[in-house]
Amino acid sequence: MKNLIQLVLILITVSHRCTTGTEMVVKYAMVGEDITLQAPEPNGKRYYWSWWLGKADEGHQIGWYNHFGGNQITTEESWKTRVSISGRMLTIKKIPEELFGTISCKLTVNNQHFYVTYQLIKLSVSKKPASALLPGESLSLSCNVGTSQSVDQPVVQWLNPQGEEVRGPVTKSVTVQDHGQWTCVVTKDRKVTVSVTVVDLSPSPLHQYTSKYSPLTIPCSIPAHINWTLLKDKDIQDVQWHFLPKPSSSLKSNNRQRLFSLSLDPLSWEVDQDRQLKNAPDLEGGNLTLTRYRGKEEDSGNYTCSMRFKNGVILSRSVYVEVLQIFSSPGAKLISGQRVNLSCSTGHPLPSDVQLKWFPPEKSSLQGSDPQPAHLTIPEVGAGDSGKWRCELWRSKTRLTFAVIMLKIEPKLSVWMLVTICSAAAIIILLLVLAFILYRRRQRKMRHLRPRLCQCKNPKGFYRT
Ligand SMILES: *[C@@H]1O[C@H](CO)[C@@H](O)[C@H](O)[C@H]1NC(C)=O
Ligand SMILES: *[C@@H]1O[C@H](CO)[C@@H](O)[C@H](O)[C@H]1NC(C)=O
Repeated sequence: MKNLIQLVLILITVSHRCTTGTEMVVKYAMVGEDITLQAPEPNGKRYYWSWWLGKADEGHQIGWYNHFGGNQITTEESWKTRVSISGRMLTIKKIPEELFGTISCKLTVNNQHFYVTYQLIKLSVSKKPASALLPGESLSLSCNVGTSQSVDQPVVQWLNPQGEEVRGPVTKSVTVQDHGQWTCVVTKDRKVTVSVTVVDLSPSPLHQYTSKYSPLTIPCSIPAHINWTLLKDKDIQDVQWHFLPKPSSSLKSNNRQRLFSLSLDPLSWEVDQDRQLKNAPDLEGGNLTLTRYRGKEEDSGNYTCSMRFKNGVILSRSVYVEVLQIFSSPGAKLISGQRVNLSCSTGHPLPSDVQLKWFPPEKSSLQGSDPQPAHLTIPEVGAGDSGKWRCELWRSKTRLTFAVIMLKIEPKLSVWMLVTICSAAAIIILLLVLAFILYRRRQRKMRHLRPRLCQCKNPKGFYRT
């Protein structure tokens, strides 16, 4: 009984298919794309698919496939190289303009026929201009869907590189945010991307850290997809580096200084203000970075790398260089027992993703705590605190820079040492007094002896009263 019901159900389904007979599938494609059409699944063991250009049984047959795996493609030269049939799949390589329209598939199972028609609709996307743009230049993007009598026109939408919806067609004056992949959404599963290039400098970090003990790098570069030829085509006027010192760092020069300017033909840097900074060797490749083997206290400030174009557009990147230093109050020469404050700082608060780590001398009484403060207080320094104190800045697993200070600690004079020194001094003074007294006494004695000597040994010659 159950089997009978199933059989009836299957028969109903099949007959339903036979009576409705056709199904329509819409495919959007661009000229030159490869497309794959999938034939309906047979519900029987003996089946046969035939593919047609236009309507089945009326148009031009492209090929067929049967349940033995046998298949054939039309012998026409233009088709043989372009079409392949593998099981349910018909693939057309690099679809040409003239193939857009209708392709049909006829499935035959137990002498019953089922038809699928595929509406191939041409999709074309255009971008004007095709080349890279400077900010402010105008861009237009359009996404055109071919018309078909049997299919409603879909609503075409654009997504900008940030993924936000923009009603098409797009016509706008570009900004650097427009650089990237624009997507034309025709249907949920048919999207076309177009890449838009807007000239800009590569992103660079806002802060760079250095010290007297570590290198200074001020990054700036042209992204890899932009080259000097393109920049010259866009009428680049100049490329410069400027420096604005940190306000308090030195009183004499708080004005913006031009450090370098680029001469474009041939490419080479000209020094304007010499701060012993070196240019990266790969200028041809667009690396505008400045470096020095070691940082200096007066390096702190804002460095700007800028590029100016004939149409007035200026592209720039600024990097703030921070110099790490350790300060000791009251000083680096200390007497054991003194209270000392050490601070490790760039003069600005550290961003939340930068961690500070102290490395006191091995024998120091002060050992690591977490998190580590920028200011340390040693209530009473001892001999163990003398030596190298190091402070490091880290961003996740990278050490950004470090600074060092040498503390010299003299021992304090103790009471016993004072007693010993005083006693020694007293003894020395006593000895001196004693020596003086003895000397005086001896001199007096000599005076008494002299007359007697003269009287007895040589009465005539040396007589004196
Ligand atoms: C630019 O040059 C510097 C110094 O030579 C180097 O550290 C850096 O990685 C280079 N940057 C790029 C983007 O090539
Ligand atoms: C150390 O810092 C504290 C406050 O943090 C301050 O009261 C003290 O005067 C400082 N001592 C020295 C020697 O600078």
